[in-house]
Amino acid sequence: MGVIIAPSMLSANFGKLDEQVEMINNSSADWFHLDIMDGVFVPNISYGFPVIKAIAKKAKKPMDAHLMIVDPDRYFDNFKDLGVEYLSVHYEACIHLHRSIQRIKSLGMKAGVALNPHTPAHMLYEILPQADFVVIMSVNPGFGGQSFIENTYRKLKKVKEIIREYSSDSLIEVDGGVNDSNAPLLIESGADILVTGNSVFGAADPLKAINNLKGI
Ligand code: DX5
Ligand code: ZN
Repeated sequence: MGVIIAPSMLSANFGKLDEQVEMINNSSADWFHLDIMDGVFVPNISYGFPVIKAIAKKAKKPMDAHLMIVDPDRYFDNFKDLGVEYLSVHYEACIHLHRSIQRIKSLGMKAGVALNPHTPAHMLYEILPQADFVVIMSVNPGFGGQSFIENTYRKLKKVKEIIREYSSDSLIEVDGGVNDSNAPLLIESGADILVTGNSVFGAADPLKAINNLKGI
């Protein structure tokens, strides 16, 4: 399987949400990436359950929710009920990360661990065997449209080494500032999933932008 493309709905036009979801349904993208921000863990508030419900109603592809919130465990059941299949929490937001990951999996979702740019790859070491995927932030979480942090390539190689050491099949998702110029090197450095907000929704032709990232 090639790279998984997960457009971030944060950059979509919410005034025509149905159309935007339909566009992703008809594109070569694989997942819907949902950025959930609480104004505490990150300095921004995005959207919550009513919007996710509206997306879920039309979405014909898996939903991947990225929780940038403190104490995320409070809402795991809600995300499950809305049909989310991939749920990631931040390493920096979870005191009992192992418990949180177990709980996500026990609800039948795939569990991801997200790392802020400053958090070293080796912090994944003990949790990696439990994680279905890891999310390597290539911008500081909180906003779409920021510039890609170049050190991400080096970090991906380190994450890949840990995955290999465990012979794990955990996937690596890269989130933030991804575009068609950095995508090839990200894939070469170990990325399995690319999140793309601005480079898709800000493009003159989003379908073409997705195809370019997908390598079609
Ligand atoms: C940042 C979010 C990202 C972001 C991606 O906090 O987690 O998913 O929306 O958007 P771009 O691709 O515009 O950086
Ligand atoms: Zn995200």
